[in-house]
Order: sequence, then structure tokens, then C-alpha cells
Amino acid sequence: MALSLSLTGKVVLVSGVTSGIGKGIALMMGKAGAMVAGCGLDPAESPAAREFLVELHAAGATGMYIQADITDAMQQRNLVNQVITAWGRLDILVSNAGANFFEGAADCTEEQWQQNIELNLASHWRLCKLCRPYLATSGQGVIIIISSNQAYTTIPGCFPYNVAKTALTGLVRALAIEWGPFIRVVGLAPGFIDTPGNQQWFASFPDPAAERARTIQLHPVKRLGTPDETGAWCVFLASEYGSFASGTTYVVDGGRSALLQDQV
Ligand SMILES: NC(=O)c1ccc[n+]([C@@H]2O[C@H](COP(=O)([O-])OP(=O)(O)OC[C@H]3O[C@@H](n4cnc5c(N)ncnc54)[C@H](O)[C@@H]3O)[C@@H](O)[C@H]2O)c1
Repeated sequence: MALSLSLTGKVVLVSGVTSGIGKGIALMMGKAGAMVAGCGLDPAESPAAREFLVELHAAGATGMYIQADITDAMQQRNLVNQVITAWGRLDILVSNAGANFFEGAADCTEEQWQQNIELNLASHWRLCKLCRPYLATSGQGVIIIISSNQAYTTIPGCFPYNVAKTALTGLVRALAIEWGPFIRVVGLAPGFIDTPGNQQWFASFPDPAAERARTIQLHPVKRLGTPDETGAWCVFLASEYGSFASGTTYVVDGGRSALLQDQV
């Protein structure tokens, strides 16, 4: 029989599912048989939230969507409570929601620094803490924290986003050693993934199409990554086949970080 990855019977919570990587993760988790709860900033009746559920159901998965700002403590608590009330358990958390804060280190304001730390670092820790009792009860709980290739290498003007993403690798290590063996904690550091969030980056250049083409050339695989590919990595890491992985953040960037200089 062919090897198959199955998350049947597992309940998954994914943050940031109305767009990009989070949506890809949720859909792949659903295709692997998991029941998927997703949150995002969009209202439940918005086209983006409705589309998320339609696609999840088309993939044959059971799903729910909850509007929640994960930087708000009350909304975070309400999010986790709704999942537990509906399905009675939680086995996998994918803490994905985040956004770019791209500045120069000299120009970054206190406000930008604070917003970035709240969204791209502190909210992950708080969501993990809220989910911990349920993941521990599951006995085979898994937390996947979405970091970035910016955690390992960076370029001018990507501050303080890269600082928060680097700190997430420390969060992964701390939670893994404190919360094992009943919870495994891993990080995933995607490179350039073709999402609306990433398009904002290209749009910041005078010629977005040219910058996109230049970026693709800097990848040994000569393309950008897809949300589905990122989701497939999460399915593997959460599955029984990924069960020796904990405390490490895995870079998946099409070889981009193997290139020392930007000449090809
Ligand atoms: N796209 C890339 O190339 C790339 C590369 C490395 C890491 N990442 C990381 O992947 C994650 C997703 O990025 P993306 O490109 O898919 O972004 P995106 O902008 O396409 O989607 C972001 C999702 O997160 C949600 N979100 C944002 N702020 C939120 C908040 N306060 N509360 C709840 N939900 C919130 C949005 O509603 C949306 O569903 C981020 O953490 C990002 O840093 C992205």
C-alpha cells in the first residue's frame, strides 16, 4: 500500500486563513482529513471568509471560521473557547497570522516596533499558552509556528519584522523543551511564497513585475513557492511521520538562502 499522510480525527486551529499561506495550510490539513477551525481579521460574512469555507468543504473537510484579531487577548480566548465548545478537543495549532512591517532600523518608530512585536511575536506566545492545556490533553499535541526566511538572513529595510521572526525561533525552542513530550513544537520558515501579503512587497518597488522576475532568478528552483506547498510541509510535520521533529525551525525557500551574493 502506498504511504499516506492522514490527520483523520485531529482538530486543527490555524490563524490567518482568509488569505495566502494560512489558507493553504488549512486546505491541506483538511485534505489530510483533519477538522479545521480558522480565524482571520475578516468578518464571518465577508467574501474572503465565505470563500475559505467553500474551498474547505470542496476539499471534503469539516470546517469553521471565527473572526478574531489575535493581538486582542479577549478575542484570542473566545477563539479557542469556540473551538473547544464545538469539537471538544484540539490536537494541532498552526500559529500563522502575521504581517510585514518593513522599515529601516533608523526610521522605525516606537509604534511600528510595538505593533510588530505584538502581532509577529507576542500573539504567537499567547495563542500557544491558551491552547497548551488542550494540546497536552490530546497527548500528541503539535504546535507549528510560522516564522520566515527573514529569521536567518535579511535585506536592508526589513526591520523590525526580521527581529520578531528571528525571536520566533527562540520561542519554538523554549516551548519544545518545556512542553514536551506531550506537545511537539516546530517552526516553519518559508521563503518567498506567492501570496497577497508577498505581493505588497513587490508593489513597494517602482517596477513590481521586474522585481518579481529578478527575485525568481535568485531562486535555484526558478519560481516562488505556493501556499499549498507550505501547507503540505505542515501536514508532514504534524503527522506521525514528522514525530521526531521538535524544537527546530525548518527553512523552506526554494534554495534562495543558499545563494551568498545576488549575482546569478
Ligand atoms: N508570503 C511570504 O512570502 C511569507 C514568507 C515568510 C513568512 N511569511 C509569513 O506567513 C504568514 C502569512 O503570510 P501571508 O503572506 O500568507 O499573508 P497574507 O497577508 O496573505 O495573509 C495574512 C492572513 O493573516 C490574517 N491576519 C493578519 N493580521 C491578523 C490579526 N491581527 N489577527 C488575525 N488574523 C490576522 C489575515 O486576516 C490573513 O488571513 C505571516 O506570518 C508571514 O509573516 C510569509
